[in-house]
Amino acid sequence: MHELHEPGAAAGSGGHGRTDIDRLIDERVPGYSLAAPFYISPEFFARDIEAIFASTWIFVASSAEVPEPGDYLTIDIGAYSVIVIRDDDGEIRAHHNVCRHRGTRLLNDLSGSVGNIVCGYHQWTYTPSGELISAGVQAPGFDRSCFSLRSVNLRVIGGLIFICLSPTPPDDIDEVADVIEPYLAGHDIAGTKVAAQSDLIEDSNWKLVMENNRECYHCEAGHPELTCTFFPTYGYDPDEIPKRLQPAYQRYLDAEDQLHANCDRNGLPYALVEELTGRPTGFRIERAALDGKGESYTMDGSAASAKLLGDLDTFVLGRASLHVQPNMWFHAMGDHVVTFSLLPLAEDKTLVRTTWLVHADAEEGVDYDLDNLTTVWIKTNEQDATFCERGHLGISSPAYVPGPYAPTESQVDDFVTWYIERLKAHREQRTVQLEGVERRSTGSRAEGSRADGIQENEARMEAESS
Ligand code: FES
Ligand SMILES: [Fe+2]
Repeated sequence: MHELHEPGAAAGSGGHGRTDIDRLIDERVPGYSLAAPFYISPEFFARDIEAIFASTWIFVASSAEVPEPGDYLTIDIGAYSVIVIRDDDGEIRAHHNVCRHRGTRLLNDLSGSVGNIVCGYHQWTYTPSGELISAGVQAPGFDRSCFSLRSVNLRVIGGLIFICLSPTPPDDIDEVADVIEPYLAGHDIAGTKVAAQSDLIEDSNWKLVMENNRECYHCEAGHPELTCTFFPTYGYDPDEIPKRLQPAYQRYLDAEDQLHANCDRNGLPYALVEELTGRPTGFRIERAALDGKGESYTMDGSAASAKLLGDLDTFVLGRASLHVQPNMWFHAMGDHVVTFSLLPLAEDKTLVRTTWLVHADAEEGVDYDLDNLTTVWIKTNEQDATFCERGHLGISSPAYVPGPYAPTESQVDDFVTWYIERLKAHREQRTVQLEGVERRSTGSRAEGSRADGIQENEARMEAESS
């Protein structure tokens, strides 16, 4: 086990000195995989939760997962638990899953439906919008309006639900929404229903799961079902495509011509937009052709659901593929949508949740067969889990040293670059906050003011929790 020292542990550091974690962040070598502690140390995992998962926008679900008022999901991220719920006005809201009385976790199932949110301990009762409406007998002057559930920032973009645990979420989400919404709109995710969902827990660090997803270097050998429809030339520079993949590349070019004609007729954008680094909400979106019949992620590429999504006029629309750092990838086809969210459980455990959405009116056994709909990604997820678990095992060996990314792994390099950028941004923000605390602390000592002391404590707690 690599032992690391967290901030504040370094003697004479003033509480925020340079630590082993900071040194490793600063010494990251672009173009190479990360040093082992990034993947296997509990201290790094704790930093990842605060600097990445509690600071950036996280994809948690689609709107189809909470179709009716009172429908909810609970999402655990590190020690946080969040309720995502549709309120009585049909709006989707997010609240911390923490009672405002004495802190008890309120909802304890992964999903369900409630009229109101009732704490099991002393029955404080909240509406789905988070207002406290009942708190038993309280002292005179008790003001219920001061004890609403603490809200969590939430954005629904084209039917995809993102939350941000930070009270100051990255505001570039608006720019990202403007770019990606037109790609999603034609698939009318609000008009879909959940056909299937799978939760897979992988014995691997979350970054290895994300890195594995960002390249298809392993697809040709590793994913026989996926490569029935997913062109194995994904990620290759057209000038660098190996000879054995040239026939697949020619089929891809022909399929792209057909795709573009169909997209133009349906008003669907297809250009690649890739802004994976240099912004808090790094993302990539494109529409690309599928192999075989070009309709869907099935073994022969034909549509898995007979009901077209939205007002689309053909199934031959390839895949609209979206990736948002740090935790989501997504494909929308003419007949169905498949979303993937990754949630870190421990330094060596990651939940990958896959959800298949079909038209809300599609009937199982009539319009779609569940096995046909889900086989490709169930198999692909299992194969990827094996790669990630073996990756984690190898990196856990003292013999591991970082290795170089191939040109086709450029998105892996971009993901790691983004990750390091966010760790540095979080560190800078924390340093500024702690310096502010120290300045106020010096001032308050000079004045001997108790009020300033309380303020200082609150600011320090805020800095430490951000
Ligand atoms: S802790 Fe929730 S009602 Fe008491
Ligand atoms: Fe894979």
